[in-house]
Amino acid sequence: MLIKNVRIENSEHESDIRIEKGIICEIGEHLEPFQGEERIEGQGGLVLPPFADCHVHLDTCLSLDAAGPNLSGTLFEGIRVWSEYRKQIDKEEVKERALRTLRMYRKKGVQYIRSHVDVSDNLTAFEALLELKEKVKDEVEIQLVAFPQDGVMTSEKVRRNLEEAVSMGADAVGGVPHLELTREYGEKSIQYIMELAQKYDCLVDLHCDEIDDEQSKFLEVLAAKAYETGMGEKVSASHTTAMHSYNNAYCSKLFRLLSMSGINIIANPLVNVNLQGRFDTYPKRRGMTRVKELLENGVNVSMGHDDIYDPFYPLGNGDMTEVLLMGLHLCHMMGYPELNDSYRIITCNGAKTLNIKEKDYGIAVGKPASFNIFKEGSFFEVLRSREGVQYSLRKGRIIDRK
Ligand code: FE2
Repeated sequence: MLIKNVRIENSEHESDIRIEKGIICEIGEHLEPFQGEERIEGQGGLVLPPFADCHVHLDTCLSLDAAGPNLSGTLFEGIRVWSEYRKQIDKEEVKERALRTLRMYRKKGVQYIRSHVDVSDNLTAFEALLELKEKVKDEVEIQLVAFPQDGVMTSEKVRRNLEEAVSMGADAVGGVPHLELTREYGEKSIQYIMELAQKYDCLVDLHCDEIDDEQSKFLEVLAAKAYETGMGEKVSASHTTAMHSYNNAYCSKLFRLLSMSGINIIANPLVNVNLQGRFDTYPKRRGMTRVKELLENGVNVSMGHDDIYDPFYPLGNGDMTEVLLMGLHLCHMMGYPELNDSYRIITCNGAKTLNIKEKDYGIAVGKPASFNIFKEGSFFEVLRSREGVQYSLRKGRIIDRK
């Protein structure tokens, strides 16, 4: 297959890309088509590596009708509504909702997804998504995080479920240190989770400090452990919204630790601007972690949709540019270079967060031919037009087109 006249990652120059056996075998100007070779006319459009959603809950997505609304809009009501509903879910129902969600993602050019899966009550949803992950792997790469929504120090059963999910093949161990009963339990939970991850050689991704409490400082505990154990880049902290409320002097110290540790931060702007600030009168905090400052300090930041049409967030359609745009607005990242380069947050920064090997991701000769083609010539114009992906290719196969 030959793709003519595209701009790779905002390049000013147009190139052609040739694909053979699912691999990019040639990139250059004015490549001549072979006889009978399939051809896509790029017409000066942008080509980007596939989008990565680094944080979603496929087990909760599209459950809003069945689970019921979250009238206060708080995280705590969301958890209460979901906790009631999760008692009655069955495997097929989870798979059906997740499959519908994955179709939305495919339309939006998302080929990498990290999903947390609640294992607090039982492993029904985890088993369902483990099966689905295998079934859809030709179209999307899914990582599963065994997620103890109610905390790990609260019950022996949760710890048993967590370890069982990890032994069954979870890619990462999850946790919620800020929701443990006490600060001490929160710290102990991080120790427990890091040891579990080391035992099974898997990644760590915690819901960390997802609260407007400036006293919630589990991120420093997690980063210190990531540094001390050398797990560094295998560790991610999701949300970290309390950072919005930390003082600047503390943040300055924290950024140094984060950068030393190599830990990844995952922001979830759509959901956190909805859930956070709900205990404020005016002014209301935005509840966003400090994306701009983290990036300036050399910390890898990616983003996640977190929820789609469920008790935590009533909207969403799997569009990572929508997630990104909300984040860029909230973080004052609206200068032209920031907007134009921001695709990195939902592409290569995401791939780094997910520990995708460098040889498997990106647009270069020898790598898998997985990428999205847009009509517009720059990411700035993609954000402006919001027309979406024209072609989505995975390993040389067109998996979606407009
Ligand atoms: Fe989440």
